[in-house]
Amino acid sequence: MGILEVLFLIRLLRLIINAAADCSISECSIHGTPVRFPFRLEGQQPRNCGYPGFDLSCSNQSLTVLKLPHSGDFLVRDINYLTQQIQLYDSDNCLAKRLLQLNLSGSPFRGFFHQNYTFLSCPTQLVKSRFTTINCLSNSTISVLATSSMNLAQEMSSSCDVISTLTIPVSWPVQYNEGFSYDLSEDLLLTWFSPDCKRCETQGSMCGLYGNASHEIGCSYDSKKGKFASNLRVLGILILSIGIPVLVCASGVGISAYLIPWHSRANEANATQRSSTVAAAAAALQPTIVVIGLDESTIESFDKLVLGDSKRLPGPNGSTCAICLSEYNTKETLRIIPECKHCFHADCVDEWLRMNGTCPVCRKSPSPAHVRSSNI
Ligand SMILES: *[C@@H]1O[C@H](CO)[C@@H](O)[C@H](O)[C@H]1NC(C)=O
Ligand SMILES: *[C@@H]1O[C@H](CO)[C@@H](O)[C@H](O)[C@H]1NC(C)=O
Ligand SMILES: *[C@@H]1O[C@H](CO)[C@@H](O)[C@H](O)[C@H]1NC(C)=O
Ligand SMILES: *[C@@H]1O[C@H](CO)[C@@H](O)[C@H](O)[C@H]1NC(C)=O
Ligand SMILES: *[C@@H]1O[C@H](CO)[C@@H](O)[C@H](O)[C@H]1NC(C)=O
Repeated sequence: MGILEVLFLIRLLRLIINAAADCSISECSIHGTPVRFPFRLEGQQPRNCGYPGFDLSCSNQSLTVLKLPHSGDFLVRDINYLTQQIQLYDSDNCLAKRLLQLNLSGSPFRGFFHQNYTFLSCPTQLVKSRFTTINCLSNSTISVLATSSMNLAQEMSSSCDVISTLTIPVSWPVQYNEGFSYDLSEDLLLTWFSPDCKRCETQGSMCGLYGNASHEIGCSYDSKKGKFASNLRVLGILILSIGIPVLVCASGVGISAYLIPWHSRANEANATQRSSTVAAAAAALQPTIVVIGLDESTIESFDKLVLGDSKRLPGPNGSTCAICLSEYNTKETLRIIPECKHCFHADCVDEWLRMNGTCPVCRKSPSPAHVRSSNI
């Protein structure tokens, strides 16, 4: 009974914290990208919930928008808080056009790798069915191509006009791109180096700013320095240490008034007080105690897949496992978190889910039971 009550109170507490927290996770729509530090949703989260340069907004179609200072608005497909990657796309599905004007100066985002591309404008009949063209920039007379091969660009320049040669961010450098195979239609994958929250995220803790004035960041795991969340954490710990004994005692008294003589009631109260003191101490050490791991049967109920030769993954997934940071190989078994469709090596994510009931990348709670309980 004691354990059940403690669990119930922890859930209640989590609700209170989530409801009260100014910096709780926001999103533009129910299935939108979860937005939290260092990002913030303008108008939904106060300024000190995000790091300068990381402001996002919602489009009038409830899509998440990132405004780059010199390159305009991009839509956000996904944010990987663990590996510090943001996946962007163009609302008009013409990333190549945006890459031609991309200028990341003044923003905290950078490409992983860079590659020089030459954009060529060629007569359509010359290149049609021979090369991959960038359809959104081409028409019946003029076709636009891009290649990273300087030789090929030079060869073609006799019959085509060079639009420009520029260094663009790519998620993976193409080593031997001798054809016009890369049509630059994939998402734009960028990373950020500052603020560096990787360590904090790996521990399952929350990164944040200490205060409005400084740009110093902290990790809520660090109980000495975690001031940014201190008010709520302290409130939470207070509720844990005061609320549990009071409630447990109250219900204990209610039930035991019928059954149990006074002296054993006192023992019970002491025992529950002890266990709540332990809970409060644990909460003080690691406030993320409010997140509870999942049981084996729940974890087992999530879909698994064995990677085929194409290594094609469903949903918003890159080519590496965000937990172990190693690349996926064919025949490896992955598990998919149902709520958000993020994939991980099954071994990696099972271990994580046993300790932590949320998706390591977006922190969505995957279990239907959790979802229900947080919607009370
Ligand atoms: C949404 O905003 C765009 C410009 O940002 C505008 O062209 C479009 O008409 C708007 N759509 C609606 C439904 O308001
Ligand atoms: C990017 O924009 C900045 C500010 O306008 C400018 O100084 C810089 O030269 C631009 N970089 C490129 C490559 O155009
Ligand atoms: C791209 O070209 C510039 C000069 O135009 C050169 O300095 C740079 O090393 C090239 N980058 C790559 C990745 O080849
Ligand atoms: C094709 O595009 C080129 C340059 O963008 C333009 O000059 C030309 O008029 C267009 N042709 C047609 C048929 O739209
Ligand atoms: C932090 O910012 C809020 C408004 O954004 C303001 O009311 C508050 O006084 C600020 N606190 C400090 C310590 O500057």
